[in-house]
Amino acid sequence: MGKVLVSAPLPGPAVEVMRAAHEVVVGADPIGLGREGILARVGPCDALVTLVTDRVDEALLAAATRLRLVANCAVGVDNIDLAACRRRGVAVTNTPDVLTEATADATFALLLDACRRVSEGDRAVRAGRWRGWAPTEWLGVRVTGATLGIVGLGRIGRAVAARARGFSMRVLYTQRSRAPGEVERALAAEYAPLGELLARSDIVALCCPLNEDSRGLLSRERIAGLKPGAVVVSAARGACLDEVALAEALADGRVAAAGLDVFAREPAVAPELLACENAVLTPHLGSADRPTREAMASLCADAVLAVLAGEEPRFRVA
Ligand code: DGY
Repeated sequence: MGKVLVSAPLPGPAVEVMRAAHEVVVGADPIGLGREGILARVGPCDALVTLVTDRVDEALLAAATRLRLVANCAVGVDNIDLAACRRRGVAVTNTPDVLTEATADATFALLLDACRRVSEGDRAVRAGRWRGWAPTEWLGVRVTGATLGIVGLGRIGRAVAARARGFSMRVLYTQRSRAPGEVERALAAEYAPLGELLARSDIVALCCPLNEDSRGLLSRERIAGLKPGAVVVSAARGACLDEVALAEALADGRVAAAGLDVFAREPAVAPELLACENAVLTPHLGSADRPTREAMASLCADAVLAVLAGEEPRFRVA
């Protein structure tokens, strides 16, 4: 029987599944045990189930001398020092595929909301600021037929592109290497270098993982290169864009609206963004439909059972 530390309660039966074979300690706080909480408990553990907010680095690994697995309850693994895990022989797994559709749904929800000012309108109605239908008020960005620029045509980017077809959108995409021809044809997606994509797109959706290529990708300079009146949406990672530069562009109307589910210093949100009525800001809920979160938890349990039984886990990233 191994010892497993789970940073936070998980939805569905995942914890019970692990408990049938191992001793499992689960943090009580839904947002996780935090750095100190993990450091205090991880010493005797064979496996650790982490949240995107749990940083796994040399110092944590040094305190976890028995650790054989970090099962990250997320597809993104930017919170984990993969090289350090490899050096110490600690396997790392993530939860791809199961969250693709939910995250694409959420990206599209941000897109529709930001373009058509849904949350902004909701705030006005609740605050009693709505005086009645007016031909010149609440004008937004047209979604149907717009050009959508997708940064990162991976699983989630492709699922966003598939949804865009239902809105007769023209889809551009950019990424390090061009997608295979059959993927481009199936999605009717046209490759464009980043600068060109930003200049041509009515709506830009960030769908890339956070890595050294994408950190700060939507920089101040690139925001200046967006098509005037463009809309920016992201359910990727906050560090992919310059939040202050984006807020300035939102404030002066160079960017018409933004929909952001992720922030560089979560749960803190740049005050400059909070001040923008034309920004839709959501609490990192991209993967948060119930079946998806249960499936993510279940993949973590599968990884724990596999590694502690000496087997190869299904989604190993290190
Ligand atoms: C991920 O999986 O990386 C998300 O950010 C959380 O679902």
